[in-house]
Amino acid sequence: MTVVNDAPKSKTPADRPEYDHAGRTAIANRLLKGSSARSFDPIVELDWDAPLEEGKYFLPPKVISLYGTKLWDEMSEEQRIELSRQEMANVLSVGIWFENLLNRALLIRLMREDPAAATSHYELTEMGDECRHMTMFGKVIERSGARPYMMRPWERWAMLALPAVMRGTFMWVITLVGEELFDALQREMRNDPQLQPIVARLMQIHVTEESRHIGFARDGIMRRKPIRSRWETVTAANLHGLGGPAFRRLFTNPQMYKRAGIANPREAARIARKNPNFHEVMIRSFEPLSAFLRQADLMGPIGERLWRRAGFLP
Ligand SMILES: [Fe+2]
Ligand SMILES: [Fe+2]
Repeated sequence: MTVVNDAPKSKTPADRPEYDHAGRTAIANRLLKGSSARSFDPIVELDWDAPLEEGKYFLPPKVISLYGTKLWDEMSEEQRIELSRQEMANVLSVGIWFENLLNRALLIRLMREDPAAATSHYELTEMGDECRHMTMFGKVIERSGARPYMMRPWERWAMLALPAVMRGTFMWVITLVGEELFDALQREMRNDPQLQPIVARLMQIHVTEESRHIGFARDGIMRRKPIRSRWETVTAANLHGLGGPAFRRLFTNPQMYKRAGIANPREAARIARKNPNFHEVMIRSFEPLSAFLRQADLMGPIGERLWRRAGFLP
């Protein structure tokens, strides 16, 4: 019997003969196996009943936006710990909104993709990881005694519109902008002895699962490199620069200083943005991604200028 495959051919650039489908499928299959061998359910992996440890920080002091400033020197230990709690709740809130964005973009992508392909199956698995991460982040915010930071209406509108343009190389570049900055910092923070154990555990789990997502996104970018159009390259190589000013604003959200009881929250945000210690943290967070973007020929002049002006490049 002859099997007739009359499925209509889609016309995406990834259908061109020079695109390495087999390689991409092999990566997806490897990540699918890795996911089933090493995934974590935050409901049972984190000890939700353990009391918070007295005197421990929610983020290590050296990554706090005001660390090393005169304002920091004037704060009591208790105030510093409170600020670390607020900065953690803020960064986890940003993480939740980003993972929400990524999952919506992946769902839209799945409407165009072959549901029988291993790449689709891995994308579904990744969405499942992100759903557990959002649960874990929300629960840790709750457990820490803080409240989440909500998006402003215009930020919600931007997040609603973004998935519509997240396609091709740009899709994976946005994914990396959202994942790699947090990942780089979590790698250096997760074993810090000053950290609350529940936050350290969250970071260990997140780093493990995100390394698969980052691997998948980086592979997606490198495999598209030979088939990218000039337009795809130029837009992806420069638009990511908008992440610089966005993250700078998000990481120095005046609301955190207000909730931490600092008298002049706007002034505190200005001090944080000029803080050389915090600039170093920002630069370290962007280092692995900027190196990868250069290697993938995706660090365009506008993109680079935006990251540098925001303080993420030396
Ligand atoms: Fe995640
Ligand atoms: Fe992720």
